[in-house]
Amino acid sequence: MKYKINNICCIGAGYVGGPTMAVIADKCPNIQIEVVDINKIRIRQWNEDNFEKLPIFEPGLAEIIKRCRGKNLHFSNFVEEKIKKADMIFISVNTPTKKKGIGAGKASDLKWVEACAREVARNAIGHTIVVEKSTLPVRTAEVIKEILNASQNSSSNESHLCSFDVLSNPEFLSEGTAINDLMYPDRVLIGGENQEAIDSLSEIYSRWVPRNKILETNIWSSELAKLTANAFLAQRISSINSISALCEATGADVREVARAIGSDNRIGSKFLDSGPGFGGSCFKKDILNLVYLAEYFGLNEVANFWESVVKINSWHQKRISEIIVKKLFGTVANKKLVILGFAFKANTNDTRESAAITICKNLLNEGANLVIHDPKVTATQIENDLNINPVNSLGNENSFFNAKAGNWEHSKCINNLEIFNNAYAIVILTEWDEFRALKWTEIVEKMVPPAWVFDSRSIVNTKEVRDAGLSLWRLGDGLGD
Ligand code: UDX
Ligand code: UDX
Repeated sequence: MKYKINNICCIGAGYVGGPTMAVIADKCPNIQIEVVDINKIRIRQWNEDNFEKLPIFEPGLAEIIKRCRGKNLHFSNFVEEKIKKADMIFISVNTPTKKKGIGAGKASDLKWVEACAREVARNAIGHTIVVEKSTLPVRTAEVIKEILNASQNSSSNESHLCSFDVLSNPEFLSEGTAINDLMYPDRVLIGGENQEAIDSLSEIYSRWVPRNKILETNIWSSELAKLTANAFLAQRISSINSISALCEATGADVREVARAIGSDNRIGSKFLDSGPGFGGSCFKKDILNLVYLAEYFGLNEVANFWESVVKINSWHQKRISEIIVKKLFGTVANKKLVILGFAFKANTNDTRESAAITICKNLLNEGANLVIHDPKVTATQIENDLNINPVNSLGNENSFFNAKAGNWEHSKCINNLEIFNNAYAIVILTEWDEFRALKWTEIVEKMVPPAWVFDSRSIVNTKEVRDAGLSLWRLGDGLGD
């Protein structure tokens, strides 16, 4: 037995809710999908006629929106109305790390999830399957169930005729490849108690995902698996980044070390690219969540182990900033530095927790004048992240060398190479393809010698850069300049 799902509502039109619902709509034309969000601007952007202006940039997303929007995929702010109609409701709201109160700095803030559960409880009609899509601490489903059950037994729900099942269905998509990850997932995880509810969700995915890739677990395992997957992935990056420092000290090359260890089947070659430190909305938040859980259960050794993954990441970003200052004769004050890339990875406009934010802030504190270019990140976004107005940024007394804090400006384009005029260094922080094809022989002419290239993503052709007469620092390159 399965419940018949004709209408889906997704609360939260963000990086997870938007692309996930777009793919479900594309694969299930007979299901009506309503994506709702309290943010009016975001919904307006999802309904934009100009597909360049969708709120999220993801390769392949605009094409799906073009195909499905207005047919079986709709974006609106009508939260209550759409909950009423839905047979299945996905909760895809954000769960940031708590800023204050119990668990501040580590635990996830569940206030939005709770608010959604209450909204569902007030408005749902008939039997509704509630699916946790947001990454949540283990046993959150219990909280959601309690709220829903309380309404089932009270008069707060106008209909009085409602019942609920709660499923955990964590999202494993990576930004930049979200559509591909959703179309061809390694696995789909469904945690739950009621087999009929599990079968109903499983049936939706089975329209494009092979059955053997749809894993069923108990609800707590599903919640913990999501946190653990992100913690393991982040751990690999911190591991290889820690080795990059040792490579630089010893004359080894981190790319060669990564290739050598990655050839071992047991280790595997993926997620071994040393970079400026992991960013994104999930890794840090989810590990800190795991740390909080472990501490809560008195497992301090477990907590310390995972916390070190985040600590190494922060240390690594500081280390890169300091190397740049040291190589530029110990000061970047009043020097123009070109920053290439601000997104936390290529092929996304997302900057949440991007290493570029920390590294740019450190360089500004040292008095550098930054010109920042990213093909997808807007000047407004950079301004929000740096929390300093462009060009007329203020002095900062906390600076390492007590220099007056520098300025920054945004550059939309790098094609005419003007951006490189009088620059002392180029710092590559995101692995955008367009940075691979730079004409170094032309760029060097514009810069102040001895000009440097700092490549934290290992994307430049080292020979071309050096042959052009530039000094090159590459992460984890022990035989570098
Ligand atoms: C998601 C997850 O849900 C989070 O748990 C996971 O760890 C990362 O990915 P994401 O889609 O990236 O979050 O978040 P975001 O892009 O901020 O989108 C969340 C949306 O929910 C926002 O548009 C926000 O306006 C909306 N929201 C939030 C609601 O509609 N209602 C609320 O009560 C709270
Ligand atoms: C991650 C998980 O991969 C995904 O499964 C989960 O659902 C959400 O969190 P995302 O944050 O979008 O996805 O991107 P991901 O590709 O994992 O990259 C995270 C960070 O690690 C980026 O800053 C990226 O540049 C960095 N990274 C990744 C490396 O530095 N080296 C690598 O080898 C891989």
